[in-house]
Amino acid sequence: MNENFGDGTRVVHAVPGEPGDPFGAQPVFASSYHLGGQDYYGRAGNPTWRALESALGTLEGGECVAFPSGMAAISTLLRTVLSSGDTLVVPSDGYFLTRKFVSEMDVNVVEVPTAGPYPSFDGVRLVLLETPSNPGLDVCDIADLAARAHEAGALLAVDNTTATPLGQRPLELGADLVVASDTKAVAGHSDVLFGHVTAASEELAGRLRDARTMNGAIPGPFETWLALRGLGTLDLRLARQAENAEAVYALLKGRVAGLRWPGAPEDPAYLVAAQQMRRFNGVLTFVLDDVAAVEKFLSRSKLVSAATSFGGLHTTADRRAQFGDPVHEGLVRLSCGCEDTRDLVADVSHALGLD
Ligand SMILES: Cc1ncc(COP(=O)(O)O)c(C=O)c1O
Repeated sequence: MNENFGDGTRVVHAVPGEPGDPFGAQPVFASSYHLGGQDYYGRAGNPTWRALESALGTLEGGECVAFPSGMAAISTLLRTVLSSGDTLVVPSDGYFLTRKFVSEMDVNVVEVPTAGPYPSFDGVRLVLLETPSNPGLDVCDIADLAARAHEAGALLAVDNTTATPLGQRPLELGADLVVASDTKAVAGHSDVLFGHVTAASEELAGRLRDARTMNGAIPGPFETWLALRGLGTLDLRLARQAENAEAVYALLKGRVAGLRWPGAPEDPAYLVAAQQMRRFNGVLTFVLDDVAAVEKFLSRSKLVSAATSFGGLHTTADRRAQFGDPVHEGLVRLSCGCEDTRDLVADVSHALGLD
């Protein structure tokens, strides 16, 4: 793929084709193959995985290994990289299941807020960042932290779920690993769970692939095909979602508490975000007074649905405290979808009683 092509061209042409080939990769459902070719057994390899892995790996500048969910990707990464007694840094404000997972491992966990301050990484084996963090949307400087981690002999991984492979390329900023839930914007249609890890090192990617083969948690070919199909329109969807987020931010500015969107110049995360992110997306957060206020907002809206995911076609709102995130009970993570901007702004304005 020509590095100079824009995001739209790169995702549309992510799967190359020869005359006579179908457009895009088709799902291959085999569990076993006639021996002698590249594939021999469905738990170890699948042509549909390879098509998606090649597409995501090319976008992210590393070697990609696909997993059946974001958590499968994260848990395999953590089990592969860490040994008993190792020290690990995780975001205190990131995806809650990652913290729960490491709390049950035999490792020392240091929790640090995404916005810092970060402690010395001496004696640390792995630093896991999540930027922008979910749900608070704080941002940290990947290049600076990767340099500090490497100086201390640690590996640095970035959960890139919120940013997407088009929004941020952590490996180019010095990270060793990218991990993501593609359930969100990459697949983008709220119909499949998916995840991946992309490693800068072929050796590490090989170990992750071996771990996937051994633990047997593999992505289905149909799900892989759905994720790949979603990837083809990621550029278009992100563009509309970011446009919607910008307009909703402008509507809410000065009228709700705790409004965050890293793409807004007045957001505390903007300076670092603008420096290291390639583009912004449709996820913003704000805080309403209490649970009742969130319920009222949702019941008055015709376009915003309560749902606990983000990055999809539909605009969704998630009151994160209901899932145990240590945040205000009225914090809403709003994932702007691909509706017309005018319609969404009018709907949110009405639902919050701002018109
Ligand atoms: C930042 C982040 N990482 C990882 C995950 C886990 O991904 P999945 O739900 O695909 O297992 C999520 C899911 O919400 C997430 O938001």
